[in-house]
Amino acid sequence: MKLSVFLTCLACFLAGVWAAFRYPAFEEPARNSSKTQITFGVILPNTLLITVARSYLKTLTESVETFTLSRHVKYHFKNHYKISSPFGASMSLNPSPTEILDVLCNKVVKRNVVAILYFTNSNIFGSNAASVQYLLQLTAYLGIPVIAWNADNIGVEQRVSESRILQLAPSMEHQAAAMLGLLRRYFWHQFSIVTTLIGGHDDFIRAVRDLVLESTEFRFNILGVFVLKGNTRDEVRAELEHLKKSDTRVILLYATKEEAINITSAAYELGMTGKNYMWIASQSVAGSGTVYSAPDQFPMGMLAIHFNASTNVLEDEMERAITIFFRGLELYVKDQRNHNQTLTHNLHCNGVGDTRWNHGDTFF
Ligand SMILES: *[C@@H]1O[C@H](CO)[C@@H](O)[C@H](O)[C@H]1NC(C)=O
Ligand SMILES: *[C@@H]1O[C@H](CO)[C@@H](O)[C@H](O)[C@H]1NC(C)=O
Ligand SMILES: *[C@@H]1O[C@H](CO)[C@@H](O)[C@H](O)[C@H]1NC(C)=O
Ligand SMILES: *[C@@H]1O[C@H](CO)[C@@H](O)[C@H](O)[C@H]1NC(C)=O
Repeated sequence: MKLSVFLTCLACFLAGVWAAFRYPAFEEPARNSSKTQITFGVILPNTLLITVARSYLKTLTESVETFTLSRHVKYHFKNHYKISSPFGASMSLNPSPTEILDVLCNKVVKRNVVAILYFTNSNIFGSNAASVQYLLQLTAYLGIPVIAWNADNIGVEQRVSESRILQLAPSMEHQAAAMLGLLRRYFWHQFSIVTTLIGGHDDFIRAVRDLVLESTEFRFNILGVFVLKGNTRDEVRAELEHLKKSDTRVILLYATKEEAINITSAAYELGMTGKNYMWIASQSVAGSGTVYSAPDQFPMGMLAIHFNASTNVLEDEMERAITIFFRGLELYVKDQRNHNQTLTHNLHCNGVGDTRWNHGDTFF
């Protein structure tokens, strides 16, 4: 009983914090009523920690005020646009299609948002790939530019066609380059690539191939590319037999953490995890969480890419995304070609207004 009362109150307290997002704190007094009112939407990971939610809100408010309340820098966009309080929506880390539609259509799009800032940092890489892809596909369909930091799903947005997404998290190319940098450092010329069917696996393979082609002073030799289709340890072992037959000693692995457990277990059974083998894994294998622990099945000495996706980093990236938004807006306003265009749209998800904001491409 006590617990449920406490939980209810925690929920109403949280609701209060999130409601505060909508409080028009950044509006300047309306001196020029002919100014168009615009804003942007912010989608943040749901958090049950009140301190984290507050901290997100504080960062958001302060970053926006740097631009809207600045007295030192005369921004041109202020002559034309009134920036109303950005709309912050929280979304669970693995949202259902209904939740995505609700947040996007009923909360964000309604408010004449000219861009969406989207942040996720799920601890489990790729677990929410389908929902992230759905969200980004919807925004691409609507034509709203997105500034994203989806640290847990870098592979996703590259598959969305006509995407209008600025990705702030380290890309597939960055990870591939870091792995090859390691090989170069230890003079390992030959290697094989092992991936599963994880989202973005083909982008990873392409990124490695491109970098290998570009590297002329240090010659790499890709002995084999293995895209594993099996899931169970036995299936994976059967597929890895071919890898064993090749001369491979260095393996670049791109998979989820769970998949990597079966892969390294199978490799152990084939005797491919000893001191003569080097496994170098992507960030998706290590996970982006703040708790670091390698499963027992991972071979001793395995290396993995890691980048910090903690709450603090998310806030830094939020600040960066907001800066990018306002600089973009300023550039847009200063460009003569846009002078007889206004940044407004009449988008509606239910077919009443426009279904695509074509001018969003120009703004992007
Ligand atoms: C209001 O803004 C428009 C541009 O949108 C400008 O042409 C006009 O001079 C402004 N009026 C005042 C009173 O600032
Ligand atoms: C790993 O293999 C086991 C059986 O060997 C299977 O039940 C499990 O689903 C596999 N894990 C993944 C992530 O495919
Ligand atoms: C991640 O970044 C934050 C803020 O920059 C820092 O406090 C934290 O120690 C970092 N964590 C790791 C594991 O690097
Ligand atoms: C302004 O809009 C009109 C009609 O849409 C167009 O013909 C004209 O080229 C535009 N002017 C500029 C400077 O873009």
